[in-house]
Amino acid sequence: MDFDAGLIDRLRTARRVAVFTGAGVSAESGVPTFRDAQTGLWARFRPEDLATPEAFRRDPVTVWNWYAWRRELIGAVQPNPAHRAIAGLQQRFAALTVITQNVDGLHQRAGSRDVIELHGNIGIDLCFECGRRGQSGAGTEVPPRCVHCNGRLRPGVVWFGESLPPSAWDSALECAQRADIFFCIGTSSLVEPAASLPHTARAAGAVLVQVNPAPTAHDAIAHHVLRGKAGLVMPALLQALERM
Ligand code: OAD
Repeated sequence: MDFDAGLIDRLRTARRVAVFTGAGVSAESGVPTFRDAQTGLWARFRPEDLATPEAFRRDPVTVWNWYAWRRELIGAVQPNPAHRAIAGLQQRFAALTVITQNVDGLHQRAGSRDVIELHGNIGIDLCFECGRRGQSGAGTEVPPRCVHCNGRLRPGVVWFGESLPPSAWDSALECAQRADIFFCIGTSSLVEPAASLPHTARAAGAVLVQVNPAPTAHDAIAHHVLRGKAGLVMPALLQALERM
């Protein structure tokens, strides 16, 4: 795969890199999207009956079981060459931060050290009442109970209608503003406010690189559009850099 010499030159001198990722990066691992996982028993539910605070208040058992099912699907997959190449890139720059909309934890499993999870992590529960994170809960009840306040535990992901975790969003914004290069990989970039990050990065002077097999809303503002699957493009880019 050939890359524009201008891109390789810019990568050679870049110090701060941001890598913004979406569902497309995990596609080659076989992580089903929300809708793809809605098979069998789950096909009859509307997304708002499975992934909103109102749904959890109404029927915590169904919502909990839905996430237990998706956690099981995600637990069975492995990071793919795109995750590994992104982790490999971090050796080449003073700072490389991954800003992900994925909740599957695959970037960390591939070795990325600095990961901002804008939509949370499906493997980390928190208390629906007091908000304490990272608990496994008490008792045999479904969902389990918080050991601190006896509230119900919920999955630590962002549901429809909820705002992004403020600290993750602040870090993502700062990262976009400081980046020399901003990669947008495998995201349709339609969901706000995350979709504004590429604009923020570009306005602050970053070179914007789009990696996607299909056109996206951000192609028009990208300096480089690399058309292809992330699992092919990212390892090839890492190799091109290693040859420098
Ligand atoms: P989308 O499903 O909207 O977009 C996936 C993108 O990945 C599309 O642009 C595809 O063309 C691209 N794609 C597919 N296969 C690819 C591959 N092998 N390599 C590279 N790109 C590939 O997913 P997101 O943009 O992540 O939010 O959507 C963002 C959010 O919308 C999700 O996190 C979720 C959803 O509502 C919440 O759950 C809050």
